Amino acid sequence: MMASKTKLSSLRILFATSEIAPWVKTGGLGDVASALPPALAQAGCDVKVLTPAYPAIRSAFPKAMPWLEVPVLAPQLPSARLLRAGELAKGAELILLDCPAMYERHGNPYADSHGHAWSDNSLRFGLLSRVAHWLSGPGQIPDWQPDILHCNDWHTALAPAFRALLGGGAPTVITVHNLAFTGLFAYDALHALGLPAHSFRYDGVEFHGQLSFLKSGLQFADQITTVSPTYAQEIQTPEFGCGLEGLLHFRANALTGILNGIDETVWDPSLDTHVPLPYSVDALEGKASNKAALQKRLGFEINPDVPLLGMVSRLTHQKGSDLILETADRLIAEGCQLAILGTGERRLEKAFSDLTHRHAHKCMVLIGYDEALAHQIEAGADIFLMPSLFEPCGLNQMYSLRYGTPPVVRRTGGLADTVVNLSPDTLADGSANGFVFDAPDAASLLDAVQRAVAAYRNPTIWRQLQRHGMETHFGWNNAAERYISVYQRALKN
Ligand code: ADP
Ligand code: GLC
Repeated sequence: MMASKTKLSSLRILFATSEIAPWVKTGGLGDVASALPPALAQAGCDVKVLTPAYPAIRSAFPKAMPWLEVPVLAPQLPSARLLRAGELAKGAELILLDCPAMYERHGNPYADSHGHAWSDNSLRFGLLSRVAHWLSGPGQIPDWQPDILHCNDWHTALAPAFRALLGGGAPTVITVHNLAFTGLFAYDALHALGLPAHSFRYDGVEFHGQLSFLKSGLQFADQITTVSPTYAQEIQTPEFGCGLEGLLHFRANALTGILNGIDETVWDPSLDTHVPLPYSVDALEGKASNKAALQKRLGFEINPDVPLLGMVSRLTHQKGSDLILETADRLIAEGCQLAILGTGERRLEKAFSDLTHRHAHKCMVLIGYDEALAHQIEAGADIFLMPSLFEPCGLNQMYSLRYGTPPVVRRTGGLADTVVNLSPDTLADGSANGFVFDAPDAASLLDAVQRAVAAYRNPTIWRQLQRHGMETHFGWNNAAERYISVYQRALKN
C-alpha cells in the first residue's frame, strides 16, 4: 500500500494548456489550468505547465529565464525557445513557449480583436502540440523525464497523434473541456505539421475531409477525461457528441468524467476583496449590503425585497442566451431585476443590449469582461441563472453556491452533477441547493425561475438552500486524486 502511494505521489506531469488564469483566460479552461496543477502538486506530483508566451503572460513574468532551444520540428513550424517563468505553487512550475511570430499578438489566444480566428491557428496550436510532445520525450528536459503528458482541449490535442504516429514522447491523457470546439483545418496542414499522409483516415486524424485536432487526441490518447461524469455519458450520444459520439463510445473504457473543482481561495465570500462587504454562512446579513451596493451600481431601485437575478457568462448559444432573451421581459414584468455580465456572439450582445434600453433601472447588461464585477454579481444577486443547453462542467454555478446565491440551471453536464432541485423530498433530506429544469425552452426556464422566486419569498426555505450551498466544498483535492488514478491507467497501457 505504502509503496504504491509513493509511486503515485512521485509522478511527473507535463501539463499543456493554451490558457492559464489570471493572465490568459477566455473561459473555464484558464481557471482549471491555474488550479489543477497546484492541486496535483499538493497531492505529491511534480508538475510543469506549458503554455504559449502570449503578451499578457510575458509581461506578467518579465524575469522569465531562457531555458531550452526548440529546433524546427516540422516543415512549416518555426523554431522556438522555452522560458522558465517560475513556480505557480510548490511543485508546479510554469514554462512558456516563446515564439513571437506565433503568439505575440493582441486579441485573445484564438482570434483577433474583431473575433476572427487567426488564419494560422493550425500552425500556432500545431506548434504547441508538437513542442509538448517533443518536450515529453526522453532526455529533452535535463534530469526531468515526464511520466505523463496531460493535454487540454483541441489546442494541444495533436500531441497524442504525434506520439502515436512519430513515436517518442510520454503516455498521454487528454481532457475535453468542450467538445464543441474541435480545431478543424484543411488537409494541407498535415504536411505543414509533419504528420504522415497515411494518418489522414477515419481511424486517424481525418474528420469529414479535414484535419481535426480534437478527434486526433480522442483517437490516440492513452486516456481521455472530461470535466463531469454526466458530460462523459452525454458525449457518447448524437445529441451532445458533435459527430464524435461513435469514437467516444468506442473508447468508453478509456473515458472518465472528473468534476472540476473551484479555487476556493479566489471564490470565498468571506475573503473576497472584490466585494463591498465580505460575508459568510454564519454572517449572511452581509450579503444584503452587497445586494444594495450592486443595485446602486446598476442604477436599480435599492430594495431588499425585489428578487435580483444575476448571470455571468459567455453570450453564446451554448449558455442558453436565447432562453434568457425570450424570458427576460416576462421576468422583469413579474418584478425581478436582472444583472447580466458577458461577452460573446455579436448578435447576442446586441439583443442583450436592447434589453437594457427597454428596461432601464430594472435590467442592466454589461458587455465586457470584468473579474471584479463577476464577483460582485455572485455576491449581490439573490438567484444565479445558468440555463445552458449543454455544459461540460460549468464553474459559475459552483461559485454561486459558495456565495449563497442559489442557481437556476438546466439538467445537463456538470450542472446536473452539482445542482439539486428543490422539491419536498430534497428539502426534507437537506440535499436541495438550487433549481433545475429539463426541456431546453423558455417556458421551462420561466417556470424554474418562478419556483426560485417563490422559494426566495420563504426565508426559512431560502436560508436552508443558501446554507447547504455555502457549506459544500468544491475544492480540487478529490479531482486531483482522480486524475492521478487516470495517469496510473495511462501508464499501465
Ligand atoms: P465556460 O468555460 O464555458 O465559459 P465556465 O463556467 O466553466 O464556462 O467558466 C467561465 C469562467 O469565465 C468563470 O470563471 C466566469 O466567472 C468567467 N467569465 C465568463 N464571462 C465573464 C465575464 N464577462 N467577465 C468576467 N468573468 C467571466
Ligand atoms: C469549458 C466548458 C465549461 C467548463 C470549462 C472548464 O469551457 O464550457 O463547462 O467548466 O471548460 O473545464
